[in-house]
Amino acid sequence: MTHKLAVLPGDGIGPDIVREACKVLETLRTNFGLDMAWEEAPVGGTAYDQSGHPLPEATLELARGADAVLLGAVGGPRWEALDYSVRPERALLALRKELDLFANLRPAKVFPELAGASALKPEVVAGIDIMVVRELTGGIYFGEPRGVEELPDGRRKGVNTLVYASDEIERIARVAFDIARKRSGRVCSIDKANVLESTELWREVVTDVGTREFPDVELSHMYVDNAAMQLVRAPGQFDVMVTTNMFGDILSDEASMLTGSIGLLPSASLNTEGAGMYEPIHGSAPDIAGTGKANPLATILSVGMMLRYSLDESELADRVERAVEKVLEDGLRTPDIAAEGEQAIGTAEMGDAVVAALRG
Ligand code: NAD
Ligand code: IPM
Ligand code: MN
Repeated sequence: MTHKLAVLPGDGIGPDIVREACKVLETLRTNFGLDMAWEEAPVGGTAYDQSGHPLPEATLELARGADAVLLGAVGGPRWEALDYSVRPERALLALRKELDLFANLRPAKVFPELAGASALKPEVVAGIDIMVVRELTGGIYFGEPRGVEELPDGRRKGVNTLVYASDEIERIARVAFDIARKRSGRVCSIDKANVLESTELWREVVTDVGTREFPDVELSHMYVDNAAMQLVRAPGQFDVMVTTNMFGDILSDEASMLTGSIGLLPSASLNTEGAGMYEPIHGSAPDIAGTGKANPLATILSVGMMLRYSLDESELADRVERAVEKVLEDGLRTPDIAAEGEQAIGTAEMGDAVVAALRG
């Protein structure tokens, strides 16, 4: 059966990195028999400029009908002054919500060749392999009430609400425990249960699910402020981390720096039906957009996750990961992971190198 893919390049460096990921997909089709067809559609600021909306109906429909979505990045200074309802980032949040992509997997794995590229000491980051499981359709990102209102005395009030219902916590906890079973058998749940009632419930429900359904998995809990500190002090203590939408957003950017660059971290956003959206965890990087300096590996590794989690092509996923390892072993570096004085290559050259490594 032909896999149907929706490709949404988006803004800033989005089109540059997605172009390289599509080269990889095309190579898998022509050389390795991947049966797929992809269709591209606008999203984010680019879509707003064309149609007045960051997530046009046709783009949403394409994403809904696809077996998997590949997304670059959205947003940028050009669109920052827009009303919240049409900001590029709304498209991303709407896609996640509409497709019920509640489980966001963000693996942070240190490639041996890049241990020296991290801002931390190589001996602290060597061998790090963490899976951040971020809840993606709830929490403060979606809670009501929200907005900015005028008070009678002329002041204004900005409101966002951190809400979690027990079923939302249960389903993300199950995803984390399931993944831990296939890894080290350890889960660390991150919350702020000492201050926020909603995450006191989080802790209680995660504990219940663990005790009842996953007694073989070792569960620990940590407050988010400590977790942020422990991630740079001794990241090796973590395997699977499960956390709320906003804590997961922040901790995954932090975890990316263990690996050397945010340009290396892929993600999968999954629902219960197996369809998913795949994107790098970074944004549209306006500061380097159009310069050819963006690292496409996070997006290429997101294709790897797509093959594994939505297309049931784990052998091809392994091939993509091995090709990325090969180019790093060969010493190829985009500027974000190049050592001081080391020769760097551009976005397209990095994509071409991965394609060459795939072909073998
Ligand atoms: P960012 O992730 O875009 O950039 C942060 C820093 O990392 C920048 O210095 C950038 O140059 C660098 N960087 C990011 N990706 C890189 C890559 N592939 N290769 C090399 N360097 C890379 O975060 P930001 O600057 O806070 O946000 C910029 C815009 O992106 C904002 O509009 C924000 O809302 C949006 N954003 C979108 C997504 C998404 O689409 N998933 C994620 C985060 C931020
Ligand atoms: C991410 C981004 C998004 C988030 C923004 C752009 C809505 O930072 O994918 O990590 O906060 O989830
Ligand atoms: Mn983020």
